[in-house]
Amino acid sequence: LDHFLYRDGQLFAEDVSVAEIARAVETPFYLYSHATLVRHFRLFDEALAWGPHMVCYAVKAASNQAILTALAAEGAGMDVVSGGEYARAKAAGVPGARIVFSGVGKTRSEIRAALDGGIRQFNVESEPEMQVISEVATSMGVVAPIAVRVNPDVDAKTHAKIATGKSENKFGIPIARAREVYAEAAALPGLKVVGIDVHIGSQLTQLEPFEMAYRKVAELTEVLRAEGHAIERLDLGGGLGIPYARSNEAPPLPTDYGAMVQRTVGHLGVEVEIEPGRLIAGNAGILVSRVIYVKNGEGRDFLILDAAMNDLIRPAMYDAYHDIVPVAEAEPGIEQVAYDVVGPVCETGDTFAKGRVMPPLAAGDLVAFRSAGAYGAVMSSEYNTRPLVPEIMAKNDQFAVIRARPSFDDMINRDTVPEWL
Ligand code: LLP
Repeated sequence: LDHFLYRDGQLFAEDVSVAEIARAVETPFYLYSHATLVRHFRLFDEALAWGPHMVCYAVKAASNQAILTALAAEGAGMDVVSGGEYARAKAAGVPGARIVFSGVGKTRSEIRAALDGGIRQFNVESEPEMQVISEVATSMGVVAPIAVRVNPDVDAKTHAKIATGKSENKFGIPIARAREVYAEAAALPGLKVVGIDVHIGSQLTQLEPFEMAYRKVAELTEVLRAEGHAIERLDLGGGLGIPYARSNEAPPLPTDYGAMVQRTVGHLGVEVEIEPGRLIAGNAGILVSRVIYVKNGEGRDFLILDAAMNDLIRPAMYDAYHDIVPVAEAEPGIEQVAYDVVGPVCETGDTFAKGRVMPPLAAGDLVAFRSAGAYGAVMSSEYNTRPLVPEIMAKNDQFAVIRARPSFDDMINRDTVPEWL
């Protein structure tokens, strides 16, 4: 459920008319609903309320400071994967004790910054990384809390580019080697083992792969405890999917997920951490765009929008489906037409949808891409020197620009022309 609804024939974000925002800031732009964001965080928090837990929002999904600040105010923890994301989380007021650091390639300077500013735990992805974290911590005279990310070799049944839990993926250490690696961690002077970490992929639409992975982690917890390791927390990763097309069967809800977590690891007396990104931010954001032209091609009509693949890359990159709806609600019963929905970038890949059946539109009309809040703005670029798409947040009857569109001068002046040219 989200707070983007039609009212008197116009799409609203909470109590603000989307068309009104479009008049004020020009298209294209991302628009987030504060209430939706917070609601989704609370759904997870409540779904795990049966025991000690921490919901660590995956910052990578949508990392605007206003979004992080809104979630921090709810008491969210954060899952970060770079020094930049760590700095963002801290700047949003999240204490280090609520930040977990994931990712396969943490550098020494990132590790040092996190140890300096405070960290809940590093999710370690390899033995070389484990040794480096120990070295850096020892050199600073501190001990780094760690969980080892295990790769449970389960099929997440999602898009290959976002599946991470199969043995052929680059993530984690094979679960079969976990005992060896934990023994090594316990022997390193700069580390303190606090738990186990697992994340098998993103946009999972069934609970079974999670359940298989979590059962393996539960077994491993008992094995490692028997060997003397203090497994106090389990970081179960993110990955719960969202319904992108309203016609599809909806993925399980956070409540179902929370009950499954209780079923699989609830008996262990551990603190549960989860790292949802998409489910918190995805349906909390839309991308608003204007039709530039309707072009009648051979056997097909193109809807040429002012948003492009550089603003929302998911369709080009993952063949992702996003609902595209008119901002002015179509008259009931109007005959629908099929469009190839494209952007102005000079690549055939700049196609959002082919043969998409929707109400007829004309140049100047506004459309909204739904479920664009996660992995939307964060994956945008300035390809074709198109200004980085701005971000807006609505809360009740107010809205604010939370990242302004750069001017052409801003973009040009970021470059430096050497004087010897
Ligand atoms: N934790 C870890 C270690 C992750 O790698 C990810 C996502 C998450 C949590 C959050 O997963 P979520 O709850 O959002 O599914 N750009 C792609 C998605 C990439 C996901 C990468 N890792 C897309 O647009 O679909």
